[in-house]
Formats: sequence, C-alpha cells, structure tokens
Amino acid sequence: MKKTIALTAAVLMSALIGFGGAALAQKKHAPKPVWGAMVAGLNDIQGITAALMVFDMKRAASIAESFEKRETYISTIEQLSQKVRDGHDKVAKEVAKLSAAIATGEENDVADALSGVMRSCNACHYDLRDAERRKKL
Ligand code: HEC
Repeated sequence: MKKTIALTAAVLMSALIGFGGAALAQKKHAPKPVWGAMVAGLNDIQGITAALMVFDMKRAASIAESFEKRETYISTIEQLSQKVRDGHDKVAKEVAKLSAAIATGEENDVADALSGVMRSCNACHYDLRDAERRKKL
C-alpha cells in the first residue's frame, strides 16, 4: 500500500514537473489554440531529448512520428495564413530529418537534427513574434 502511494506521488510529481517546464515557457500565454500546438511541440522536443539521453531510440522515434503528423496537419489547415502554414510545414520537414537521424541511432546526428527542428521554430518566432522583443533586449 505504502509503495503504491509513493509510486503514485512520484508519477504525479513527474507529470507536474514535465508540464511545468513547458507551461512556464513564458508567463503570459498565447491564445489557447496557438498555445496548445506550441506547447505540444515543446513537449515533444523535451521528450525526444530525454529519450536521447537514455538511448531510448524507440521512444524518440514514436514521439517524432506524432510530432511530424501534428505539424503536417497544421500546415494543411486552410483557415490559417500561408505564412503560418509554411512555418509548420518547415517544422514537419525538419522533424522528418530528425526521424531519419533517430533511425540510424547516431546520437550526435540526432542532437544536430533536434537543433534543426528548434531553428525551424525560431525562424517563425523571429519574424512573427519576436521583432518587438529583440528591441527590448
Ligand atoms: C508558424 C509560425 C510558428 C511556428 C512554426 C512555431 N511557432 Fe511557436 N509561436 C508562434 C507565435 C506567433 C507565438 C505567439 C502567439 C501569441 O502570443 O499570440 C508562438 C508562441 C510559442 C510559445 C509560447 C506559448 C505560450 O503562450 O506560452 C512556445 C513555447 C512556442 N511558440 C514553441 C514553439 C515550438 C517548440 C515550435 C517548433 C516545434 C514553434 N513554437 C513553432 C509562431 C510559431
């Protein structure tokens, strides 16, 4: 019984820490649909990084697969502006490269590909979001 309680507490704590890391990315959040997609991508990057650190390429591959599907799906939503769709298409393509690196099992290649994914996130933030923020640096 004690063991079960300790285990439940540990699982709850890790869920809290996991979500906290992503949710605390910034203090004031974007509108809900945008926030959901962004935080999901951030969570996937975190999950893949964690899997890489323990050489769990199977888990890395499965996270990358759903990550790519989500980004591809967003890139097909007609109501979104072309710029936003193209941005997510670029993320999807970088995640595909990441999946290829995961399949080879070369850790440094996976790390480089992760960086490519993050650069594709930055590319969009750079133009669409952070021009004002850079002025205040
Ligand atoms: C198509 C452009 C675009 C792409 C691609 C993009 N983002 Fe964003 N992201 C934005 C914009 C715009 C905002 C700010 C929205 C707002 O505040 O209204 C944002 C906000 C965020 C936030 C803050 C969310 C919050 O409210 O707390 C995070 C975290 C984030 N993005 C992560 C990512 C990650 C990780 C990726 C790549 C996997 C990514 N984004 C790709 C445009 C993009």
